[in-house]
Amino acid sequence: MNAATPFTRLADAEWVRVGTIDDIPRQGARCVKTDGPTIAVFRTEDDRIFAMQDNCPHRQGPLSQGIVHGNCVTCPLHNWVLSLETGLAQGADEGSVPTYAVRLEGRTIHLNLQNSPAA
Ligand code: FES
Repeated sequence: MNAATPFTRLADAEWVRVGTIDDIPRQGARCVKTDGPTIAVFRTEDDRIFAMQDNCPHRQGPLSQGIVHGNCVTCPLHNWVLSLETGLAQGADEGSVPTYAVRLEGRTIHLNLQNSPAA
């Protein structure tokens, strides 16, 4: 699923509400449009949520259309594998994509728009 999701700004500084975990299929993603970059919000097979910019560090492939496996996503264009936790390319590839903090309140996903640089 790759539909853009509107978000609701919360009183709590940079946190925004971007929908619920049920809006994202397991091993899938949704995109959140912001004033800045588009952010891909991923759901793993075991219902963990991660967020990162939707642009692969290789050639800007749409990571939200990639395959989620374990803690990683494989880019749909040239198969780079990126850690959903750190945004770092895995294996022999080098590069990173900014990640964002997420928190769940019940089944509601909150996203912090202050990106956390990849480790
Ligand atoms: S654009 Fe993602 S691997 Fe090439």
